Amino acid sequence: MKISNIQRFKRLSTMVAGVFTVITFLLPNQVLADGGGDFKAKCASCHQPHKNSTGPKLFQVRTKWATGGAKEGSIYQWVNNWQTAAANDPYAADVSKWSATAMSAFPDLSKEQINGIMDWIDMQPDPAATTTGDPTQVGGDPSATEEEGSFSWIWLVIGVIFIIIILAVGGVRRQLKHVTSEEELVEKLTYGEELRAMAWKYRLWVGLGSLVLLLSVLVTVMQGLGRINVVENYQPSQPIVFPHDRHAGANGIDCKYCHNSVAKSKSASLPSVNVCMNCHKQINGEGKPFADQIKKIYAAAGWDPAGAGKYTGKTKPIVWNKVHVLPDHVYFNHSQHVVVGGVDCKQCHGDMTKMNEAVKVQPVEELNKIEGNIKLSRPTLTMGWCIECHAAKDVPLGNGKNAYYDEIHRRLKDNDKTLYRKYLKDGKVTVSELGGWECAKCHY
Ligand code: HEC
Ligand code: HEC
Ligand code: HEC
Ligand code: HEC
Ligand code: HEC
Ligand code: HEC
Repeated sequence: MKISNIQRFKRLSTMVAGVFTVITFLLPNQVLADGGGDFKAKCASCHQPHKNSTGPKLFQVRTKWATGGAKEGSIYQWVNNWQTAAANDPYAADVSKWSATAMSAFPDLSKEQINGIMDWIDMQPDPAATTTGDPTQVGGDPSATEEEGSFSWIWLVIGVIFIIIILAVGGVRRQLKHVTSEEELVEKLTYGEELRAMAWKYRLWVGLGSLVLLLSVLVTVMQGLGRINVVENYQPSQPIVFPHDRHAGANGIDCKYCHNSVAKSKSASLPSVNVCMNCHKQINGEGKPFADQIKKIYAAAGWDPAGAGKYTGKTKPIVWNKVHVLPDHVYFNHSQHVVVGGVDCKQCHGDMTKMNEAVKVQPVEELNKIEGNIKLSRPTLTMGWCIECHAAKDVPLGNGKNAYYDEIHRRLKDNDKTLYRKYLKDGKVTVSELGGWECAKCHY
């Protein structure tokens, strides 16, 4: 007996559905290997699997060390504290000369965690080498792995829809047979005709199936957008544990002393080591538990505190890991918010005068606890968070404090009274009413 098109289609679909199911089961394990999370949180700011950046590429670095003659276990010591490793192992000492930048220390990473990170790295395909669109291998870009949870979910939905279609096809074939009672007719129909007949006969199913598919895709996209880059609580380890409370709190140093461009430009900037030296040349922490930290400042500045004290000229800049990071396509301007908008640092960063550990991205619940803050609900640094505040925060119009706003106020009052009255319905003119919701204001 000859195989009809429909039968061939059925077999093919069963095979495809099988493959999809296997992928659905494999994907979470491959993607959720916990090394990826640690890598992104702690190493990705300086390392990439396949490309040198601030630090060298890490693909199969364990093999590299083993074959290069490093001492056993020395690579784990390196990650915990490169200085100890460099002191104990000549191979590690060589590696430390790779660049003028020093790697941060990660004393709390266990050997298992480090192996987890490296296993994850070794699983990443080289984007330059692989061009196949294998859906299980999207992990090459560290930022892409965030969404894989919903990614595998969508495969499941597609799988289910496939099964519905297969069942429907089976039904059509039975129907056709029943109508004609002749095997030949099935063979005479072309593939397209059969498919059309099936689609029409089962229009309800096909319609429902397409609707479900469409809705699932939409929901996934929306969920994905909502979760992109949710980085609340992100607290990268820093080369020096810099306590804000000691500086901005107890000693009352103004934020602008160190973040000196915050009121003048887009970015707030971090202080150079010279700023630290203004005070720490004297405050050397001798006999205090934090003496080691101050020694790191001296090493970075190339300052020799012994004897007369002088600069040696051998500097190694402190590489702070960036805590608050927006994607490249977003425009955010500090001076606009701090000066023009009159928004306090606390609103977005929490009370830094009480921060006694490394800086982290404060979750929105913590920010809401601070007195005077506008209460928001979306995760800090997400688009929803920006938008929500722009809808809630009013801009101080026409109070004579800001020429730009006074001019807007005058034009609204004189030229566009209806708009002005509409704006003032809730008693205030918000950022969004002045255009703070326009995509192009925040997106390049
Ligand atoms: C602040 C930047 C920075 C961070 C964060 C960082 N590294 Fe490094 N890493 C470096 C630099 C720079 C080197 C090269 C050595 C040097 O120049 O001192 C290096 C070297 C290495 C090496 C040796 C590479 C080789 O080719 O032999 C390993 C392994 C390594 N890092 C692992 C890690 C791991 C694991 C993490 C995360 C837990 C991490 N690093 C985080 C900057 C960093
Ligand atoms: C004595 C210098 C100094 C003062 C004063 C100071 N900071 Fe900082 N700040 C730093 C250093 C150094 C870092 C980088 C270390 C870190 O991120 O832990 C930093 C980091 C930050 C970050 C995180 C930057 C990032 O990477 O996203 C924020 C936010 C911040 N400071 C806010 C403030 C605020 C608000 C004040 C005032 C209440 C303040 N700082 C006062 C030195 C200072
Ligand atoms: C409206 C919210 C908001 C306010 C108010 C705000 N910041 Fe920021 N801050 C951010 C965002 C968002 C980033 C991340 C910027 C990026 O990645 O481009 C950031 C980043 C930083 C950084 C890291 C360096 C940089 O510029 O990327 C420092 C330091 C900082 N802020 C300090 C301050 C200080 C000090 C104040 C108060 C004078 C302040 N911020 C007020 C939202 C805010
Ligand atoms: C305006 C003066 C001043 C500047 C500038 C300054 N510090 Fe300090 N720092 C202090 C004082 C005061 C202390 C507290 C000393 C004490 O508690 O005995 C301190 C303490 C510290 C400590 C130890 C805190 C602890 O308890 O663990 C570290 C680490 C430190 N500073 C790092 C830095 C770094 C890094 C910079 C540059 C970004 C910097 N400081 C800039 C005045 C300053
Ligand atoms: C706590 C409230 C608050 C948050 C959170 C906030 N903003 Fe704003 N934003 C303001 C205020 C107030 C202004 C008004 C300043 C002005 O009109 O120039 C403003 C103005 C702006 C403007 C200029 C709008 C215009 O009409 O010219 C841009 C762009 C902007 N914000 C981007 C962002 C981005 C991106 C984020 C999130 C990362 C963000 N904002 C988060 C309060 C906020
Ligand atoms: C007040 C500032 C602001 C406005 C207005 C705004 N966005 Fe965004 N948008 C952001 C921020 C911040 C992010 C990054 C969020 C994150 O990383 O979680 C973002 C992310 C996105 C992304 C996700 C891109 C990605 O893959 O990272 C898309 C798409 C997007 N915005 C589209 C829009 C559109 C369309 C509009 C106009 C209707 C708009 N945005 C208006 C601040 C804004």
